[in-house]
Amino acid sequence: MAEQIVILTGAGISAESGLGTFRDAGGLWTQYPLEDVATPEGFARNAGLVHEFYNMRRRDARAAQPNAAHHAIAKLAAHQQVTLVTQNVDDLHERAGFADPIHMHGELMRALCPTCTQSHAWTGDMQTESACPSCDAPGLRPDIVWFGEIPYHMERIGAALSDCSIFVSIGTSGEVWPAAGFAAEARANGARTIELNLEPSNGPFDEVRTGPATQVVPAFVAEFI
Ligand code: APR
Repeated sequence: MAEQIVILTGAGISAESGLGTFRDAGGLWTQYPLEDVATPEGFARNAGLVHEFYNMRRRDARAAQPNAAHHAIAKLAAHQQVTLVTQNVDDLHERAGFADPIHMHGELMRALCPTCTQSHAWTGDMQTESACPSCDAPGLRPDIVWFGEIPYHMERIGAALSDCSIFVSIGTSGEVWPAAGFAAEARANGARTIELNLEPSNGPFDEVRTGPATQVVPAFVAEFI
């Protein structure tokens, strides 16, 4: 049966590819205070530290490989109508073959110019003197949505949530809004809500399957292809 599936992913889906999560033991926010590296105020205070943080994450993401969970979602999209919303800024969904994930928190492999507001592909390191490829102004920043900023593509996400029969949350703690509200929104619109996570996040899910994403996601996808 054809389903309209919305999938939300978080850092947990990339954990088995070697990329850090944020709130697990030893997570990124235990290594770097988020106020310093994931807020506009932090960037204004010390852009060099922010570039160091994202240069490290960009290098790690480039060296990482998509895992069985990323590949399973790409495979599902060949059989069902799938809208993929990711809080992740790595490009592992794309490299697993999913054509157009919705990056609501931006992308590591893109740079944003505060002067001309253009976004550019950017896969190398970025420094405080890095200039905009369009307008040549200095002060480029990673094209990442920081705390206190408005997530990208919210209209498109809202439309998908209003019209889905199944909502699946994978590898996210459900701690950060507005993504934390998506399951309740989908359920209010009549969707069945499912969580696939290492441990339950206690969100509003009709079904919770716990385990590593590389195990629980392929098993889930196998039921739909
Ligand atoms: N398989 C499945 N789930 C996993 C795995 C795994 N191998 N490893 C960890 N998890 C789960 C954890 O149990 C946790 O629920 O992934 C979740 C990771 O939670 P967070 O570290 O809070 O990451 P995330 O939910 O993506 O954070 C959301 O917060 O800081 C912001 O912008 C940042 O996009 C991020 C947002």
